[in-house]
Amino acid sequence: MGVFLDTVPWSGIVRIRDMMFSVENPYRLDQGDVSFDAPESVKAAMARAVAENRTHYLQSTGLPRLRELLAEKMRRKNAIPVGDIDEVLVTNGGIHALYVMFQALLEPGDEVVLPDPVWPPTWGHTIAARATPVFVPLREEIGWRYDVDELRHAVTSKTRAIYLNSPHNPTGGILTRADIEAIADLARERNLWVFSDEAYEDVRFEGEHVSIGSLPGMYERTIPMFTMSKSYAITGVRVGYLSVKDEQVRDRAKKILLYTTSNVCSIAQYGGIGALEGPQDCIDQFTAELRARRDLFYDGIQRLGGIFSGAPPAGAFYAFVRIDPGWRGAAPHASASWAMAEHLIKHGRIGCVPGADFGAAGEGHVRFCFARERKELTGALESMSRLFSTV
Ligand SMILES: Cc1ncc(COP(=O)(O)O)c(C=O)c1O
Repeated sequence: MGVFLDTVPWSGIVRIRDMMFSVENPYRLDQGDVSFDAPESVKAAMARAVAENRTHYLQSTGLPRLRELLAEKMRRKNAIPVGDIDEVLVTNGGIHALYVMFQALLEPGDEVVLPDPVWPPTWGHTIAARATPVFVPLREEIGWRYDVDELRHAVTSKTRAIYLNSPHNPTGGILTRADIEAIADLARERNLWVFSDEAYEDVRFEGEHVSIGSLPGMYERTIPMFTMSKSYAITGVRVGYLSVKDEQVRDRAKKILLYTTSNVCSIAQYGGIGALEGPQDCIDQFTAELRARRDLFYDGIQRLGGIFSGAPPAGAFYAFVRIDPGWRGAAPHASASWAMAEHLIKHGRIGCVPGADFGAAGEGHVRFCFARERKELTGALESMSRLFSTV
């Protein structure tokens, strides 16, 4: 694994994050983190766990009470027919859930269909599992969704799995029920697995969230994965989870959990119990505020004289906008999106992620996270106005 890791790519998001540390008073629209405080239910549960000395080793798969609540949540909210709590595995955030599922299922040489653009760690996870990513573009003109025929054509005899991420990072596209049904048909026909990354299930401004694992016969071939990071604004607490019906794959996943974490932090898991046992109205409150921030941000960029364009996203909390092809960055640069990102960081103190970092189809775009405080968004917009001389 040692030398092989030299071939696994870093995410450009990390490069940007490092650049941002040298910027004074930055506008941090680069990271996918929400500015909301954690719900009281989570904070109280974690404080109680500390006070009650719940600081010892736990089951590698997670606290039984947490898994019970998660199984119930997936059955009720996602309509996934999760059976025994043994099927539920608690992970160190969603990124670890993805690592676990990719390692548990993939063999060297297997092909995995990924969207382009894609959240970069998924790409890294595919390569780390020694599998081959096969990119299928998401089409901006249809709301950053797949053209399902194109997806069908990308499947070969080597395809082991399709990775779905709806709502999608970075574009905010949401697959419709018809899309999900068509992808489920394809998976059944071609005997494929589906990795279903539902990290943004609660961050929706339009449309419904359909878990592919809820469709007839699909849970058997789907590994649904979720995280509490975005829904409860606890990105640093690190509670993610997945559910695996297949006993052999689950057994392998359990081994990965054991050898990578022993167990997820006990205090974090009690926080997760607090989140699920507590009131759920924070989810709607967060979404309402995110909608207002999305509208504020898009209103602002529309006043920039066409430097950025694109429709507001249906879900997630990113503005993935097209850069005016006529814009010429300060320095000649092979990549317009890197040129723009560097320009915004160096001259506007605005963090953003170049679209090229998300794959070939992302070039010509930049991603801004609008889950930041309104005053941070307003400050960034004012800085852009000065930069592009529209005031
Ligand atoms: C598409 C997607 N999946 C999974 C995750 C993982 O979330 P976390 O590890 O913070 O729980 C993220 C985080 O940004 C994401 O954007």
